[in-house]
Amino acid sequence: MLNIVLFGPPGSGKGTQSEHLIKQFELIHLSTGDILRVEIAAQTELGIEAQKKMDKGELVPDEVVISMISGIIERNKDAKGFIFDGFPRTIAQAESLDEMLSAHSTKVNLLIMLDVDEDEIKKRLILRGEKSGRGDDINIDIITNRINVYRLQTKPVSKYYKKQGKSFPINGMQTEEEVYSDIAHVMGKFVK
Ligand code: AP5
Repeated sequence: MLNIVLFGPPGSGKGTQSEHLIKQFELIHLSTGDILRVEIAAQTELGIEAQKKMDKGELVPDEVVISMISGIIERNKDAKGFIFDGFPRTIAQAESLDEMLSAHSTKVNLLIMLDVDEDEIKKRLILRGEKSGRGDDINIDIITNRINVYRLQTKPVSKYYKKQGKSFPINGMQTEEEVYSDIAHVMGKFVK
């Protein structure tokens, strides 16, 4: 298996770049944000609870997302690998992911870190919010809170993988195509 963590602040291009990776490498795309939005649209109990957190730009509890991911890994034991998009977002989630993968004799191979500055993030998210009406993009206070939550709770995850020599930083301020070209270059080290 080839397992990639696509990492970066809100609006850094994780979802956009996942689309390119799926096409080229036939990996399973696992976006916790997308899964939670499906639960919200279906108004499940999990979705109703998650929405309260997401509408404020806060993280959904670890145990909720860990159990979602665990179920999907279980159901896809024979996959070529996974692109984890928006997960892990805390050290507890990273440790759980390592345990889940290790139980299947596999591991996180690399973390791709998309670096984008705060002004650009705000511009991108406000623009998207105007078009899509996504609840957590329409208000600058919520966007600012998402960025703060990223800095405090999520950024340490990149150090966790950096210590394992698995973190690859990419300049996410370039065009979508240029960013993917850099990602593809890194992927070349892992896929022959
Ligand atoms: P989630 O859905 O994961 O949102 P996010 O991390 O805030 O990321 P986004 O989807 O906003 O951005 P992205 O990096 O994917 O960028 P994208 O490609 O879309 O999470 C939402 C919420 O769910 C969280 O706040 C939390 O509450 C909860 N949650 C999710 N996972 C969780 C977890 N593991 N634990 C706990 N809670 C969790 O691009 C953004 C925009 O920029 C688009 O309009 C795009 O077209 C544009 N764009 C992309 N690339 C470029 C480029 N190179 N140049 C110009 N524009 C670009």
